[in-house]
Amino acid sequence: MPHVITQSCCSDASCVYACPVNCIHPTPDEPDFHTAEMLYIDPVECVDCGACVTACPVSAIKHDGALSPSESIFAELNAGFYAETRPRPLLAPVVPPLQVRAPAVPRVAIVGSGPAAIYAADEILTIPGARVRIYERLGRPYGLARFGVAPDHRRTRAVTRQFDAICADPRLELMTGVEIGTDLTHEQLLADNDAVIYAVGASADRALDIPGAELPGVASATAFVGWYNGHPDFAGQSFDLSHPRAVIVGNGNVALDVARILTIDPALLEDTDIAPQALDALHRSAIEEVLVVGRRGPAQSAFTVPELVGLCSTPGVDVVVAEQDLESLPDTDPRARILRNRTTQTGNRRIVLEYLQSPTAVLGDDAVRSVEFGRNELIAGDDGSPRVKPTGELHTVDAGLVLTSIGYRGLPVTGLPFDDGVVPNDAGRVTGVPATYVTGWIKRGPTGFIGTNKSCAQETVRSLVADYNSGRLA
Ligand SMILES: Cc1cc2nc3c(=O)[nH]c(=O)nc-3n(C[C@H](O)[C@H](O)[C@H](O)COP(=O)(O)OP(=O)(O)OC[C@H]3O[C@@H](n4cnc5c(N)ncnc54)[C@H](O)[C@@H]3O)c2cc1C
Ligand SMILES: NC(=O)c1ccc[n+]([C@@H]2O[C@H](COP(=O)([O-])OP(=O)(O)OC[C@H]3O[C@@H](n4cnc5c(N)ncnc54)[C@H](OP(=O)(O)O)[C@@H]3O)[C@@H](O)[C@H]2O)c1
Ligand code: SF4
Ligand code: SF4
Repeated sequence: MPHVITQSCCSDASCVYACPVNCIHPTPDEPDFHTAEMLYIDPVECVDCGACVTACPVSAIKHDGALSPSESIFAELNAGFYAETRPRPLLAPVVPPLQVRAPAVPRVAIVGSGPAAIYAADEILTIPGARVRIYERLGRPYGLARFGVAPDHRRTRAVTRQFDAICADPRLELMTGVEIGTDLTHEQLLADNDAVIYAVGASADRALDIPGAELPGVASATAFVGWYNGHPDFAGQSFDLSHPRAVIVGNGNVALDVARILTIDPALLEDTDIAPQALDALHRSAIEEVLVVGRRGPAQSAFTVPELVGLCSTPGVDVVVAEQDLESLPDTDPRARILRNRTTQTGNRRIVLEYLQSPTAVLGDDAVRSVEFGRNELIAGDDGSPRVKPTGELHTVDAGLVLTSIGYRGLPVTGLPFDDGVVPNDAGRVTGVPATYVTGWIKRGPTGFIGTNKSCAQETVRSLVADYNSGRLA
């Protein structure tokens, strides 16, 4: 029986290099690595050595005999990835080690301490003698790995243990509570270092620009996530959970996290890292139903399959989808199989996945009372991708809480160019600013899993080392 990758996979590819028979794909050098929702083990080639289990930082790999009933779909998903033959070498191509011109040793400052920063530091520290100083504006490190990942995703949150091990290297100094641009300037960092890498993430959220969006009871998923994860910027927030229905606009993985936290039995969150005031409020919550509303159709849902599996196996919570929406998905779509096989139970709280609707107004006098939605139809955009066109048909639903989960947005960094939420760069080199690099969400935009930032950081560090070796950082 082979090994199987399950839902907490954060795509860092550590297992790929541990596998003696190269049966875990896509590998970082393969074109579909950046679009894959997770990595998959080929059940025919796997020799069951278990090396990948030890390599995985989030315990995402199991022997297929050890899968729980809700995880059994992952055996099918792993095997399904290999339905078509994949040409592949006997071993995954090993990335050559970084080489710097001797006897020099680079000193690098990294701004931010999220996954992108830590993976960048890890890569730099492969150079003997290299030194790294990380500056983090918050009192605690690891960015969204600590303040974004949902508290009930215990295995994913365990990636911070790997980050602790990386930060324990005596050549790395972690300075928390230091904001670059306020407490120290870019010029001060450059005076002490050969280069500066910005890994500041994309902390702002996209705003919903509709009438009533300013009413009390409307908030961003960013604020709600920050509140339940104890992010200091959101410590003063409170959310009115006294109405039986909440609406979430957008249907990405963040929307699913928020819907699950709003509906899960709070007793199941007791032994997690959830902020105490959030746990207390969830215990008193009257919410019975959460609508997760996508502007496009079921086939364009932004959430990933592993997260849908997790949602559908949340105890005490029913996931509800209209019959016509289910029918619109082809039988071959794993989301159709997961949604058709789910069970419901009277008395459970409900998460309703709604489609082809855009909010047009939030209604209420001194707080949210209801949301007006316009129905959409799908049309082909200029590039052929499905876009929405309002049909003009409107309806309203009562709700006491509206959370917008429509994506994140980078903020400008003092002294760096900025364009549409990211810092313009070429393989991590900031355009027009010497000795300055970016990695993570501020480099490529707010998409991808924790591990996606590893290959992103490796690319940036390789650019930095090439510049160092050619004397461009002198
Ligand atoms: C709500 C949410 C849940 C998620 N859950 C998962 C999950 O379960 N699994 C998964 O694989 N991926 C998940 N992701 C995606 C993952 O968290 C991101 O891919 C990853 O965190 C991006 O890394 P980053 O280092 O670019 O940014 P961040 O993690 O945002 O880190 C940026 C850091 O920079 C610091 N900073 C910013 N400005 C400054 C400054 N001027 N000076 C000093 N420090 C500064 C910030 O405080 C922060 O610590 C989630 C994302 C979100 C939003
Ligand atoms: N467990 C995990 O692995 C995990 C958990 C959380 C986050 N993440 C990752 O973190 C990244 C960010 O997640 P996310 O959920 O914030 O973003 P996302 O996946 O980009 O989803 C954004 C959602 O907002 C919708 N949207 C955007 N603009 C809108 C508008 N004006 N009106 C209505 N809807 C709008 C999008 O719809 P359209 O598709 O129509 O544009 C989409 O449904 C993703 O890569 C995600 O996978 C991973
Ligand atoms: S068990 Fe061994 S052979 Fe199978 S995927 Fe893991 S590392 Fe590869
Ligand atoms: S988290 Fe990393 S090591 Fe674990 S299964 Fe996913 S890609 Fe492999």
